Amino acid sequence: MFSWGSDGLLDRVAATIRTSAIGFGIAFKDRMPDVIDVCPVSELPPGGRKVIEWEDYEIGVFNCNGELFAIEDRCSHDDGPLAEGPLDQANCTVECPRHGSLFDLRTGAPKTLPAYVAVETFPVRVEGDTIKLEVE
Ligand code: FES
Repeated sequence: MFSWGSDGLLDRVAATIRTSAIGFGIAFKDRMPDVIDVCPVSELPPGGRKVIEWEDYEIGVFNCNGELFAIEDRCSHDDGPLAEGPLDQANCTVECPRHGSLFDLRTGAPKTLPAYVAVETFPVRVEGDTIKLEVE
């Protein structure tokens, strides 16, 4: 694919950079994220939530005052189902129904104990009349 001189110098430079980056723990993303349909926009009004299954994940998609967010539906403290918890639209947090940690829907970070590790977040967007989720 690359060419830079007859001896493939650019290919060798690219391979060296790639090998060095991997050696420093930098991961290359070789695949595009999957985009999956969540539901029509009309089915997720402000204050609404929906749980989507994708591969081994359950993902909670929330409408917080018109902004859409998606987080893994599994608490980082003890695997509780986050999407079932109370949604605070003023702060865009969800409370784990098992032990009460509050999670920021924007970042997945816990705001209160006992959880102290962030849960995974996923990009959400609207295309036409459909809410879509990026997963990889
Ligand atoms: S399982 Fe969520 S705070 Fe314990």
